[in-house]
Amino acid sequence: MATTMKKHLSEKAQMHGLKELVAYVANESRIQVGDEERWNIPEIAKHSECGLSSVSVSTLQKCLQPVLEGLGQIDATELLGLEQVAAGMGPQIKEGIHVRPIHDLITPSCDPGTVRYIHLSEVEGQYSMGVFIFPPLAVIPLHDHPGMCVLSRVLYGDLQRKSLDLAREQPDEEPETRSWIPWTRSGKRRRDSDVPKGSKLAYRNRVDNLRAPDCTILFPFEGNLHEFVAGPHGAAVLDVLLPPYDHQHHRDCTFFEIRECADKLDGNRDKVWITPTGQPENFHCISGSYDHLE
Ligand SMILES: [Fe+2]
Repeated sequence: MATTMKKHLSEKAQMHGLKELVAYVANESRIQVGDEERWNIPEIAKHSECGLSSVSVSTLQKCLQPVLEGLGQIDATELLGLEQVAAGMGPQIKEGIHVRPIHDLITPSCDPGTVRYIHLSEVEGQYSMGVFIFPPLAVIPLHDHPGMCVLSRVLYGDLQRKSLDLAREQPDEEPETRSWIPWTRSGKRRRDSDVPKGSKLAYRNRVDNLRAPDCTILFPFEGNLHEFVAGPHGAAVLDVLLPPYDHQHHRDCTFFEIRECADKLDGNRDKVWITPTGQPENFHCISGSYDHLE
C-alpha cells in the first residue's frame, strides 16, 4: 500500500495524495493495543481516554512511516505557490534555494508577528492537517498533544525547537496525608509541595533546530511537548495530527511553563515540572486563507 501511495503522491497534486495517505493510515492500519486486540486510530481514540498512549513507540513508528515518507515528498514550492528570490532575501526550502515568505499574504490580514494557521483537512476522531505560518522570529509557546502523534514537515525556513518527553510515571495528584517522606506507599512520588496542582513531570530534551525540508514526529510521551521560535525569515510547517485535538475526548491543547525540579536529575535525564498556564497573553494564532489553499 505504501508503495502505491508513494507513486500516487508524485503523480498528483501533493496535498490530495497526502490526505488519502493519512486517511488510509488512520482508518486501515490495525494497531496492536493488547495481547490480541488490533484497532485502528479512530477506534483507539474513541475507546481510550489516553488516546494512543497505550501503543508502543515502535508500533506507532511503523504504522506512521508511510505518512512521514509522504510528507517528505511534498513539493513546498508547488503547494504554497512560492516565488524564488536571491540568496539571503528569504527563507530556504532546501539548501541554497531561497523563496519569498508568505506570512503577509494570509487573509484576512492581522497584526504583523501573529502566527497564522491555514486549515487543510480534518475528519473528526481521525486526523487533522494544516499549515502554521510563522513570521520572522515568531514563537509558539510550550504546549502538549495529549495521547496524540504529530507529524510535521518544515516547508520553508528554520525553527529552534525546545521539546520535552512527558514522564510515563506521574506523581500522585493529592497525597492522602502530608508527610516529609517523598515517597508514598505505592512507590509513586508526590508533587513537590510548592508545585501547583495539575503539574506533571517531564524530561527536557536538548534544544535543536529544524530546517526545511526536515520532517519530524512526536508521540504520546516522546517529544510530546514542544515550543518553536522561527528563524529570521520566518517558517512554514505542515502538521498532521493523529487523532486531532478534541475537548470531548480529553485531548485539549494545554500551554505550560517549566519549573525546575527539586531532585533535578533522574539518571542522565533532565527532569522538570511542567505547570499549566492557560494561553499566554502575548501569543495569538489566527486562522486564515491563502491563495488556492482555501
Ligand atoms: Fe504542537
